[in-house]
Amino acid sequence: MKIPKRIQPLVDEGLVDEVIRPLMSGKEASVYIVRCGEDIRCAKVYKDADQRSFKQAVLYQEGRKVRSSRRARAMEKGSKFGRKQQEESWQNAEVDALFKLAKAGVRVPEPYGCYDGVLLMELVCDDEGMVAPRLGDVAMDADLAIDDHATMIHYIVLMLCEGLVHGDLSEFNVLVDDHGPVIIDLPQAVDAAANNNAKWMFERDVNNMRDYYGLYAPELLTTQYAAEIWSLYEAGELTPDVELSGEFAEDTHSADVDAVLEQIKAAFAEAEARKAGLADDDD
Ligand SMILES: Nc1ncnc2c1ncn2[C@@H]1O[C@H](COP(=O)(O)OP(=O)(O)O)[C@@H](O)[C@H]1O
Ligand SMILES: [Mg+2]
Repeated sequence: MKIPKRIQPLVDEGLVDEVIRPLMSGKEASVYIVRCGEDIRCAKVYKDADQRSFKQAVLYQEGRKVRSSRRARAMEKGSKFGRKQQEESWQNAEVDALFKLAKAGVRVPEPYGCYDGVLLMELVCDDEGMVAPRLGDVAMDADLAIDDHATMIHYIVLMLCEGLVHGDLSEFNVLVDDHGPVIIDLPQAVDAAANNNAKWMFERDVNNMRDYYGLYAPELLTTQYAAEIWSLYEAGELTPDVELSGEFAEDTHSADVDAVLEQIKAAFAEAEARKAGLADDDD
């Protein structure tokens, strides 16, 4: 097919030899199947900021580290250079997250780099070479739902051990190949320690997975992995091989109302006594 304008620089550089066909045009990006030498790969072309629907990008970017202070200042000022830096930091966030997660043992498409706003990565396929479907497009039996949910929870733990929360995890951002789930779409990945929105985003991610796999295995619907994992993370006790139960004991210690009342009464009596004492002194 005719080479899309945004991919042309990669062709000129010899990184891409042919654009085979468009695969999907999502809300944030257009994805193409490309050939690089012998290999069939996937090229994700990010839409410009004004065409993206991720209006709340600011929620996600809180706490993101910018490597150079000149860049950080430009981004704050919102100058043209600053906007360009902001775009690059958004685009690089995905390739950075992919490298980090692949290394940590999370199944993600293997990244090959991000050039001029185009991410080159592995095309996730089934064993017959067909592009892998999204989780939302596959049906499964209860046993498989339980297994894949457990795998997904393990990946989520590995991600959090790396300090990352996906931030947009749903059945549309997980592909399924013959070996199980593969996590995609990470430009908005959130820094778990530095972003104040990380906790609720984490809960939303985990609960999306629970609710989807729970359609096929309803016993998952009462699990509480989000609360369990986050509390271990906050306590500094989360490790890649942590054993989880899916249960979480909320702090259900009902307040001992009688004891509290006794304390109030005692404080009150003390105050009265002091007042009386002061009054005595005044006399
Ligand atoms: N590495 C990949 N292998 C196969 N299909 C992919 C890959 N990356 C993306 N896709 C397809 O392209 C779609 C859009 O990509 P995604 O990264 O989710 O971007 P968007 O932000 O536009 O949702 C995905 O839902 C999936 O169907
Ligand atoms: Mg997506």
